[in-house]
This record gives sequence, C-alpha cells and structure tokens, in this order.
Amino acid sequence: MSNPPELQLRVARKRVEAQDICSFELVEPQGRPLPAFTAGAHLDVRASVGTVRQYSLCQPFDQVGRYVIAVLREPASRGGSRAMHDDVREGDLLTVSAPKNHFELAPGARKSLLLAGGIGVTPILCMAETLARTGAAFEMHYCVRSHERAAFVGQMQAAAFASSVHLHCDDGPAEQRVDLQAILDQPDEHTHLYVCGPKGFMDATLSTARAKGWTEDRIHFEYFSAEVVKSTTDADFDVVLASSGRVLHVTRDQTVVQALAAAGVEVPTSCEQGVCGTCLTRVIEGVPDHKDMYLTPAEQALNDQFTPCCSRAKSKRLVLDL
Ligand code: FES
Repeated sequence: MSNPPELQLRVARKRVEAQDICSFELVEPQGRPLPAFTAGAHLDVRASVGTVRQYSLCQPFDQVGRYVIAVLREPASRGGSRAMHDDVREGDLLTVSAPKNHFELAPGARKSLLLAGGIGVTPILCMAETLARTGAAFEMHYCVRSHERAAFVGQMQAAAFASSVHLHCDDGPAEQRVDLQAILDQPDEHTHLYVCGPKGFMDATLSTARAKGWTEDRIHFEYFSAEVVKSTTDADFDVVLASSGRVLHVTRDQTVVQALAAAGVEVPTSCEQGVCGTCLTRVIEGVPDHKDMYLTPAEQALNDQFTPCCSRAKSKRLVLDL
C-alpha cells in the first residue's frame, strides 16, 4: 500500500478571511483540470518539510479549476499552520494530495443540520453550498469566539441560503449564543447531523446529540486535530502480519506505524493523530487500545479495525490484516 500521487499547485491568491484565518486559492500551474471533489473533502498539504496537514475544501463543489482552503493559525502550531501563514506567498508552489473525503454528505437525507465551530466552518460551508445548489433542506449553525474570528461571513450573508445560517458569537448578546440543547432537541429519523470544529466543541456537540437520542448512523463528524493521549499504561506488545505470520515488536515509545516502517512495512498515513482514517487497518485478532477520534464509539467497540498511527493494544498481541 502507498499514498496516492501528489499534485504541485500554485497559490493564486492568499487572503485574510478573519482574525488568524487565511484562505489560499490553489490552481494547476499549466491550467490543467483538477480532480473533482465532493462536499466535506480535504487536501493533505505539505506545509513545510516533513509536515503534512489536512485542510478542508471550502468552495462549492462545482467550482472547478481551483481549490480553496482556509487555515487557522494555531497558537500551539506544530509547524503546519505557522508555515502556511508566515512562509507561503502568492505564486508559491504547494504539494498537495488529490481531494480525499472521510466526511461525506449522506445521500438522500431529507434535512441536514450543520454545526461548525471556528475553523470547522470550512467543510461545513462547502456542505451548505452543495445542499443549497441541490435544493436540499438544511440549517447551519456557525459558532465562533468573537465576530472578528468568523470567516466567510460576507459570503454567507450574500448567499441565497443566508436565512438558513445562524452565527453564534461567544462574546455577543446572550440571546444569540449557541444553545446545543435546543438545536439538538428534536432528533428525527430523516435529519442528519454534521459536526466539525475544535475538540471541545466537537465533544460537547456529539455528547449532547447522543444524549438526545441521535443515532450513530445520522451523526457525521470530522476532527481536525487531536492530541494523542499518552498513557502511563502504554506498554510493549507484538503485532503479527497475517499475510506472512511475521511478528514485530512495538515498544512503549513507538507507534505501530513506526514499528511497521522500521521493518519495511508501509501503511499510508496522513494526520498521524487519529483523526483522518488514512491508516485504518483491519484487526483480525486481539484487542486494540483505541486512541483515535475517527471511529465512532460503536465502531471502536467492535475491535475489528484500528488506527495504527496512534492506537495501541490492550492485549499482548494484535493480528493485523497486513
Ligand atoms: Fe490519520 Fe492514522 S494517519 S488516523
């Protein structure tokens, strides 16, 4: 297995969209067409040497010939967002993957409830544009810390679907602040929920939705990043490659992906934080110690797949479908 081929794209435009948020319009330098994408898709962007970050496409899916991404400058940047803000200029070439989508709209949903927190607006805006173009019913809630941090507001206010968008500012009047209990109060079987934003926002929204009775098949979410939690109980274990019977030892300081790579076995990776699902691997035997934010709790409980970039083992060994 290997990662798909990459694209070299030129930054045609870089624009400040809000406090600490820049958008980047990327085009093919020779004007060649770009691979199509669907709402919710992202690009893996090689932001600096050795740094790959995922950024969602935020323009309507039918605007071909360019990709638009937006990047939040993260205070605790591991290099990706800082490099995008400080080092990347118009005219520069960026290496990106073809669009990938782990956050698709469910086909045929009668209504969609879109919840964005902060920079999570990027895939959610693309979904709103897509749903509006196809005439599908939706309601969007966009939650930000302050109005200055709200990106693309002018675009949303000018859109034909402006009345379907609700902006909630933490520092604004009480009556416009987000009320998750009220928004998620009526889970009906024909409405699908989409959530994207920082971890605190995601955790609050998803736990409220589950408590209100939203079923997992109608909850769709995408984490942008997540701190991989090291545990004092992280221990050594073995992985067995089912195809050859080869046994590899994973030390407590290694990830499974690192142990596999050291033995010449490549598993495609992207985020290396358990949020993108690129490395998802089938588990044939053994019990994983799930540390990802990609699988739902129900999927994790099945213990038949795991994310070897961050997840480990509760059992002494895992037999992997590799
Ligand atoms: Fe993203 Fe493992 S590489 S979940």
